[in-house]
Amino acid sequence: MKNIVILISGRGSNMEALIKAREQGELPVNIAAVISNQASAKGLETAANAGIATRVLAHGDFPTREAFDAALCDVIDPFSPDLVVLAGFMRILTPAFVKHYENRLFNIHPSLLPAFPGLHTHRQALAAGVTTHGCTVHFVTAELDHGPIVIQASVPVLADDDEARLAARVLHEEHRIYPQAVRWFAEGRLQVVNGLVQVAAAEPGARQG
Ligand code: GRF
Repeated sequence: MKNIVILISGRGSNMEALIKAREQGELPVNIAAVISNQASAKGLETAANAGIATRVLAHGDFPTREAFDAALCDVIDPFSPDLVVLAGFMRILTPAFVKHYENRLFNIHPSLLPAFPGLHTHRQALAAGVTTHGCTVHFVTAELDHGPIVIQASVPVLADDDEARLAARVLHEEHRIYPQAVRWFAEGRLQVVNGLVQVAAAEPGARQG
């Protein structure tokens, strides 16, 4: 079974969706550890309650981004991850970190990339007047909120939406597509070809995703 390590900074609801999918037998992975750069991250408690190893590495303890990222690799690697899953990990990663986990680093972003990278994506979507918004799981590359797209889900933007309502509608979809993407990875069905993700068909008799 493949090992995954999840990185969080806060609430951890996407992490929780992965834990739930695993508990329900829908995600054949071992969640080896949950690591946060914030000691106060609520998700750490959720992970510990689920019996998952947790670690905290405070970025403020390091003089540079490079030093923090190198130390973070040293915390992650003993868990032998096949895949590192960013789930609300609020850090810009160094090229060295991204290279180290090339083709085994996922992120979820609350917009239909390449639209609205960066922060406040729901505010950006409302300001742009789009009628469709959503979320994206992608392999991480050195460019922020960029990289080969694994799966997306879209939601309508409704006339009376505010940021909170729109965010909740998108989050619901995040919790559905992140376990799906990780399952495809765990089943060895993902391949990146010329910067695009190909999803192989499921083995005959395997559970369809
Ligand atoms: C999610 O909206 C995710 O797309 C973004 O950060 C938020 C994290 O939420 N990267 P949670 O910690 O998973 O609840």
